[in-house]
Parts: sequence; C-alpha cells; structure tokens
Amino acid sequence: MNQPLDTTQLWMPFTANRQFKARPRMMVAASGMYYTTDDGRQVLDGTAGLWCVNAGHCHPKIVAAVQKQAAAMDFAPMFQMGHPLAFEAANALVGMAPDGLNRVFFCNDGSEGVDTALKIALAYHRVRGDAGRSRLIGRERAYHGVGFGGIAVGGIAGNRKQFGPSLAAADHMRHPLDIEKNAYTRGLPEHGAEMADELEQRLLALHDPATVAAVIVEPLQGSTGVILPPQGYLQKIRAICDKYGILLIFDEVITGFGRLGTPFAADFFGVIPDMIVCAKGLTNAAVPMGAVIVRQDIHDAFMQAAPADAIEFFHGYTYSGHPLAAAAAVATLAVYKEEDIFQRAADMAPYFEDAAHSLKGLPFVKDIRNLGLVCGIELDGIAGKPGARAYDLFSKAYWDKGVLTRTTGDIVALSPPLIINKAQIDQMFGSIADILKSLK
Ligand SMILES: Cc1ncc(COP(=O)(O)O)c(C=O)c1O
Repeated sequence: MNQPLDTTQLWMPFTANRQFKARPRMMVAASGMYYTTDDGRQVLDGTAGLWCVNAGHCHPKIVAAVQKQAAAMDFAPMFQMGHPLAFEAANALVGMAPDGLNRVFFCNDGSEGVDTALKIALAYHRVRGDAGRSRLIGRERAYHGVGFGGIAVGGIAGNRKQFGPSLAAADHMRHPLDIEKNAYTRGLPEHGAEMADELEQRLLALHDPATVAAVIVEPLQGSTGVILPPQGYLQKIRAICDKYGILLIFDEVITGFGRLGTPFAADFFGVIPDMIVCAKGLTNAAVPMGAVIVRQDIHDAFMQAAPADAIEFFHGYTYSGHPLAAAAAVATLAVYKEEDIFQRAADMAPYFEDAAHSLKGLPFVKDIRNLGLVCGIELDGIAGKPGARAYDLFSKAYWDKGVLTRTTGDIVALSPPLIINKAQIDQMFGSIADILKSLK
C-alpha cells in the first residue's frame, strides 16, 4: 500500500498551511476546463488556475511544443548568447501588443515583470539625465506581485506589513471602489473618474511631479477582489502622466491575453501605456514566463546612452527567455490566434455577466462586479472573522460541488479559462447560488 503523503516539509505559498494540511485539496491531472483530484473527482476550473490557463489545461499544441523543446535543448544562456525561439517569442508578443509597444524584456513571472518595469522606468530617466525622478506611484489595494518593487507600489496591507519599512520610495493613490454609488454595476462603474484627479491634485502636488518616475496600475484590479476602473478613469491617469513626463505602466499580468475579450486591457480601454507587464497567459501557464513590453523610444534611450559595445541595462535573469518558456509562448500565442480565443471570451462575456448578476438578492451578497470573463462577488463577512464566510463558500464549492473558486477576504473571484461554455457557466454560478442559500 502507498504511504500517505507527508505534507509537513513543504511551506506552501499564500496558504493557511495548517488549515490546508488538515484536509488537503490535491489536484493530480488537468484537461480543458477540468482538474482531476487525488480522489478521482472532476473539478470545474472557475479560476483558470490562478488567472493563467486562458486556453484551457494541457492544450495539445502547447504540450507538444514544450515536450519537443525539452528534448532538443533544455537551456541556453541569454547573457551575451541567444537562441532563436526567444526572439520568435518576442516577435509574436509584439505582433499582439498595441502599436508602438515593440521591445520585449523577458523574465519568469509577474513579480519579476513588475520589478523589471519599475527598474526600466528608474533607469530610463537616469540615462536621459533626469535622475531626480526616483519616486514610484501605485494604488491602494493594488497587487503587483511579491518582489520588493512590487510590494512597494502594491497596496494590499497584508502583503506589506510583515516586511517593515525597507521598501522603495513609493506613494499610493486611493483605489476607486465605491460600493455605495456603484453596487451591482454591469461592466464599468459610472461614478468615480474623479478619483484619478487625486494623482495630480494630491500626490503630484505633494511630491513635485519632477520627482516621479512612473505610475503603475492594474487596469482592472484582480487579486484584491475585482475593482473596476470607473468610466474615463484610465484616460485621465494617462493624460496626467503625459502632462508631467511620467511613465505609465499597466500591470496586465491577469488582464493580458484575452481576459477582457481583447489581447490586452489597453486595447479594451483604448488607453496605451508606456510599458505593459504580462505573464501568466503568456505561456498558458505551462512554463513560467513574464515579459515587459516597452515603447521603442524608451528602449532606444538606453541604446543611445551607452557605447556600442557596452551592456546598456544591468538587469536580467538566468532564465530570461528560457527555451521551454519561449517554446510554450510561441505555441500559446499561435493557439490564441488559431482558435480565436479572445473573441470567444468577448462573445461569452454577456452570458457570463447575466449569470453573475443572477446571484443578486441571495443571502450575504452585497455587490457583484464584472468585466469580460472576470467577476467578483462581495459578501457580507462574519463579524470578527474576516474572510471566513467566503472561505466556507470556496471550501463547499470544491468539496461538494466540484467547482474551483478563489477568495480574497470576503470576495469570491471568478476568472475561468476563456474556453468556458454556457453549460459550464451555469454549473459554476448555479453551484455558488446553492451554496449561498446554505451558508450560515
Ligand atoms: C496584477 C498582478 N501583478 C503581478 C502578479 C504577480 O505575478 P506572479 O505571481 O507570477 O509573480 C499578479 C499575480 O496574480 C497579478 O495579479
């Protein structure tokens, strides 16, 4: 007989370790919209893993590309060396990116992407002789990964407070969630574009715009529990950054690759930043990879500032452009096009929206927010036990209904693979409705 698995030695990330280990939720296989659990159950993936498996699990073309590359060349250095697939992956990514964003720096995940973009911003001003621009601006409740730069500009208090004050010089705009005015909005909230004005009127006035290198925002704040930009808000942020020569970075780690029905959220909103950070869906999560897509003149400023035989930017990772990740990216980006995955998401979004809002009026539901194939369901929490009610829902969805959801505090977030069909949408929201009716 097999020994029971010893779970004591692995310190799990972003997990209540003792709670998990008391009753482990283990996945052993995945295909399309479903996981298979260690007890042989099928679980509908309502979260695309962690917002990353946009084309569905184990897509055969992506699997084949990774297998082939693993056998052909496992690794090649990218420092002063190269291999063709990394360049092909960059070209394919630029082919999908908004016009003008056409230089790509590879890294391994979203956190590294954010830190890379912030470093490019700081260094860009310096190579142009403007070293006074050293301040970074993020937002309250923002999630920009777990690197030092990312938590400095991030605004989720729990992710910051264990680490003390040694973070980069950063300040934060308020987040634009206003349930009182915007509850149950379908799509973009009507109220709150003026929240963008405080970037100029409060933060730039306080710090002096000439000290600010970059503003970074998630076009749609996901990990904090789905906060949508009010209508016109991102346009205002763009205009303020332009007015003061501040770089605008979109963190599209979850909005990239079709989540809103367009390649990037920048396309959806018609607001083009100076850099886009992406990861997750870049390889359909088959192999870790992140990237920063940069405006050409930002890249060119580095080239012009250094002698022709000098390293222009002192940054990079052993695994930047890793062959397996590059193979996965090339195959993934091709699959997105061949199967018109982004359009499928756009076509399914109205049905998804109706299903999400059908939960209105059920016990404990206090707001529902949605855009593209993302939805946040905010619940009234249990007094003195923040997050416990949503966790209860998450646990029952997994064990009793075979549906994977994700929670942050008392918000349930759904972001399924973009190949989800109507029956699966019904199953997901129907299961949640049943559970809500049974919650205490
Ligand atoms: C907006 C955003 N930025 C950055 C990250 C960090 O990405 P990773 O976990 O790949 O480092 C995430 C992860 O969810 C994210 O949602």
